[in-house]
Parts: sequence; structure tokens; C-alpha cells
Amino acid sequence: MEIRKVGVVGLGTMGAGIAQVSVQAGFETVGREVSDELGERGRATVERYLTRGVEKGRLSQAECEAALARLQLTTELSELAECDLVIEAVLEELDLKRELFAELGRVTRPDAVLATNTSALSVSEIAEATEHPERLVGMHFFNPAPVLPLVEIVRGRESSDDAVETAYAWAERAGKQPVRCNDTPGFIVNRILIPLLNDCVRVLDEAGVQPEEMDKAITNGAGWPMGPCALIDLIGVDVHVHASHALHDKLGEPRMAPPERLVRMQEEGRLGRKSGAGFYEY
Ligand SMILES: NC(=O)c1ccc[n+]([C@@H]2O[C@H](COP(=O)([O-])OP(=O)(O)OC[C@H]3O[C@@H](n4cnc5c(N)ncnc54)[C@H](O)[C@@H]3O)[C@@H](O)[C@H]2O)c1
Repeated sequence: MEIRKVGVVGLGTMGAGIAQVSVQAGFETVGREVSDELGERGRATVERYLTRGVEKGRLSQAECEAALARLQLTTELSELAECDLVIEAVLEELDLKRELFAELGRVTRPDAVLATNTSALSVSEIAEATEHPERLVGMHFFNPAPVLPLVEIVRGRESSDDAVETAYAWAERAGKQPVRCNDTPGFIVNRILIPLLNDCVRVLDEAGVQPEEMDKAITNGAGWPMGPCALIDLIGVDVHVHASHALHDKLGEPRMAPPERLVRMQEEGRLGRKSGAGFYEY
């Protein structure tokens, strides 16, 4: 199916980024927030990043204005009725997402594709709450969504080929690098990266290594573009600890549980870049 109009539910960190990707790629986009204030805040985020793109010469002023004009805001889910694809990016809570998709299933056209940006919940469990689970897939963007190219297109137990391929094709048209996978905990990247980052943090203490030295070792020895400590600071210690718990709860490997050092950092409010300090000072 050809996608003309896109809905984005939730314009927080991820939703605003996804809405930006959509309007920049030329799609009429309806962003739904729970209040007008939050909607305006989401729009302001999109505007700020687009304006920065103009300053850096990545797009023209006219392209920026045209992209912003494609973003329409609403607080009503029923206003997503005309959307061909709806991407959900609300809080990571199963009941909330299930409720939302049950309603989206009722208000959207029967051929519209519904997608969740969940990181750690099961796409199939979310889909069970809808009357037509075959329409639902995962579209897992990475933060910041306008910058990182990967989108994991997650096939739930009941997802139709058509829904998977429609989501994949849209992501490509939006300039992303989509990859298909099944609905397994952590999907592709987090399944691998979370325990790996936890190993790096444990080695700091086991081998008596300073964060600077760890980052020097991994960038120079394994060719990573950024060291693991700098990466955790960028992701946010709290976000990483939460994701570690989620993966550990589902798969139970000890290395998936957050290392003591990260739990301590979280308790002390050393959350990385966003708090001004993590492994490094900012
Ligand atoms: N932040 C990341 O690095 C990242 C990366 C990939 C995927 N995700 C996933 O994206 C989703 C959103 O994460 P985020 O970081 O953007 O969160 P966020 O806290 O920035 O935004 C949360 C959004 O949920 C909305 N919301 C809160 N309560 C609601 C309710 N009762 N009904 C409807 N909407 C409600 C908020 O208005 C807001 O738009 C989560 O599922 C998360 O796991 C996050």
C-alpha cells in the first residue's frame, strides 16, 4: 500500500524525532499529544532541529518551512482516521500501548498499518489487544531518530507480510536503513549491545581500567566510532539501566543485568550528558 499520510502518537524524545523524519521526507503528518501544550512542545523540538539544519546548510529555509507546514497537531486519536501509517511512541508501558492500539484499530481505516516504537515490550503482546493484529508491526527507531539511520522492522507473531513490507518501504522512502527481524527480546541491536556495554562496565572494575582508557582500548582495538563509556553517557545511564533490567527479566542471562556501578551512578544522578556528568563531566 502506498503511504501518503502518517500519524505519530506521542511527540516526546522519539515521537518528535520520528515526526521530523516524516515531514522532512515529504509526508503529511499528524502528531497526537495528550495536551495542546505538549503538542506545541513537540512542534518546537521539530522546528529547533530543522532550523539548526538550515544553519548548518543541510536544508534550505524554504524546505524547512515546507516541512514544518506538513506537521499538523491534534489531541484526538480520531483525527488519525485518514492516516495510512500510524507510529506510536508513548511511554514504555504495556497497558498504555495496548489501550492505545485497541482504539487506533477502531478509528483508522482497516488497511492502515499500525507500528509501535517499543524498545523492550513484545510487539505480539501489544498486537493481541487489537481486533486485527496482522496490521501491527514494530518500527524501532534509534535515538536521535532524525540522525541514526537504522529502523528495525519487527514482525510480530501475527503481522502480515503486507504490513511488514509497507513499513519497510516507508522507512526506505523516509531515508532510513530498515532491517527486518522477528519479535524477540531486544530485537537485533539492543540484544547485542546491552550485554556488551555491561561487560565493558564490569571490566572497568575487574581489570582496574579508567573510563578514558576503556574508551581508548575499544575505539583503537575494536574500531568502534565511540567508546562504551562515552556511549552510555550519550544513551543516558537511566535509559541503559532500564533496558538492561527489561532484557534480563526476559532472557535471564546474568550479563544482561545492570552492573552495580551503573546502578550506583543512577542513584547518584550521574546519568551522563543530560545530567552534566556520567563517566565524564560535561
Ligand atoms: N529514548 C530512547 O532512546 C528510545 C529509543 C528507541 C525507542 N524508544 C521507545 O520510544 C517510546 C517513547 O520513548 P521516549 O524516550 O520518546 O519517551 P518520552 O518520555 O520522551 O515521551 C513519552 C511520550 O508519551 C506520552 N504519554 C505519556 N503518558 C501518556 C498517556 N497516558 N497517553 C498517551 N500518551 C502518553 C507523552 O506525552 C510523550 O509524548 C518508548 O516506547 C521507548 O521505549 C525510546
